[in-house]
Amino acid sequence: MKLFDVYPLYEVTPVRAKDVYVYDDKGTEYLDLYGGHAVISIGHGHPRYLERLTQQMHQIGFYSNAIQNPLQQELADAIGEHSCCHDYQLFLCSSGAEANENALKLASFHTGKKRVIAFEHAFHGRTSAAVAATDNATIVAPLNAQQAVTFLPFNDEEALEKELKKGDVCAVIFEGIQGVGGLDEPSESFVYALERLCNTYNSCLIADEVQAGFGRTGTFFSYQQYNIQPHIVTMAKGMGNGFPIGGILVHPSIEAKYGLLGTTFGGNHLACVASLAVLEVLKTDNLQAHAKALGDYFIEEAKKIPGVRQVKGRGLMLGMEFDFEVGALRKELIYTHSIFTGGSSNKKLLRILPPLTVQQKQLDFFLQELKTALKTIAA
Ligand SMILES: Cc1ncc(COP(=O)(O)O)c(C=O)c1O
Repeated sequence: MKLFDVYPLYEVTPVRAKDVYVYDDKGTEYLDLYGGHAVISIGHGHPRYLERLTQQMHQIGFYSNAIQNPLQQELADAIGEHSCCHDYQLFLCSSGAEANENALKLASFHTGKKRVIAFEHAFHGRTSAAVAATDNATIVAPLNAQQAVTFLPFNDEEALEKELKKGDVCAVIFEGIQGVGGLDEPSESFVYALERLCNTYNSCLIADEVQAGFGRTGTFFSYQQYNIQPHIVTMAKGMGNGFPIGGILVHPSIEAKYGLLGTTFGGNHLACVASLAVLEVLKTDNLQAHAKALGDYFIEEAKKIPGVRQVKGRGLMLGMEFDFEVGALRKELIYTHSIFTGGSSNKKLLRILPPLTVQQKQLDFFLQELKTALKTIAA
C-alpha cells in the first residue's frame, strides 16, 4: 500500500536522537534546531522522561476516561503550579488542533453564539473549526468553510470592537506569538483590548499556546508577559516532548457539565506521565529561564549577520527574516551543514525552535555555519 502523499519530505531518515541531536540511518549527526515543529521541549530521550514512561508502561498504559486516573489530577496540579493558573480547570486531549477544536466548541456552548474572530496569518490546526480559524484558504475544505470566521489584522482595536458589537461572536482566538504565520505578535495595548472587549461583549478570549506554551518563550505561556486572564488557554506540542498530548485550561467562570467535552485517548496514563516528566525537568533544569537567556543572546548575535533583515520572537521561539525566500538556505543547512531549521508561511523567514536544552555553543555553531551557507547560496 502507498502512503497518502501529503508531506513534501527531506531525504533524511532519523533512526535515533539524543538531546539536541538527531542521527540518521547512515550515522550522520544533525543539530536539531526545529524540535520536530517545536515539539521537543526537554530534549530527545531525556533520562527522566524515559524512566517515567518506561515505569508507567509496566504499570498501565491506557484506560478510558470512564475510570479514576489520579495522574490527571497530578498533572492539573503541576500545570497549575508552573503556570500560576491555579483556579483554572484542565481538560486533556491529544493534539493542538483538538485542543483548539474543544476550546472553540466550549466558547460556543458557553456564550450560545457561533461566530469566531481570528487574526491574519493565524494557524490553529487542520480540523473543523480550527482550520476554519486558520488564515490559509488552501487548507480549508468547503465543509470547513461553513464555519463563521472573521479575520482581522492584529492591533486594529476599532475593527475588533465593530465586529464584537454585532453580538454573535463566541470566541476571539489569538497566538501570543504567531508560529506557522511567522513570529508576529500583537501589541501590548491590543492584548489588553482583547481581554477588555471580550469581557464587555460576552465573548470568550482563547489564547492558543499550542506552540508557544510550556516555557518556550521564557514565560510559561507567551501571553503571560502581560497580566491578562484568557477564558481558555490551549496547549499541546512541547507539553509531551513527543508523546501526543494536548489540553485546554478553562477559566473558573465556565462551568463543566457531564458530556460537554470528551475523548477516548485524551489524558491517558502514558500521556499524563510524559507531561509530568516534562514539567519536572523544566523545573529541575530551570529551562524556562534558560530559554529566555539564550533567546536574548541569539537575537543580539543573529542581528549581526549580514543579510538578516530582522530577528523575531522570544525565548527559543525565534525567526530570522531575510530579503529572499529561505527554501534553498534550509536545504543547504540540512544537506551540507547537518542542521534542521524550520520554514513558515512567510517564505522569507527561517524558524528556530530548538529543544529548550540547547546550549550557547550550539547556537554559536549554527550562526557560524549559517554565514557559510549564506555565502554558498549567494554564489
Ligand atoms: C499555534 C498552533 N495551534 C495549533 C496547532 C495545531 O497543532 P497540531 O498539529 O498538534 O494539531 C499548531 C501546529 O503547528 C500551532 O502552531
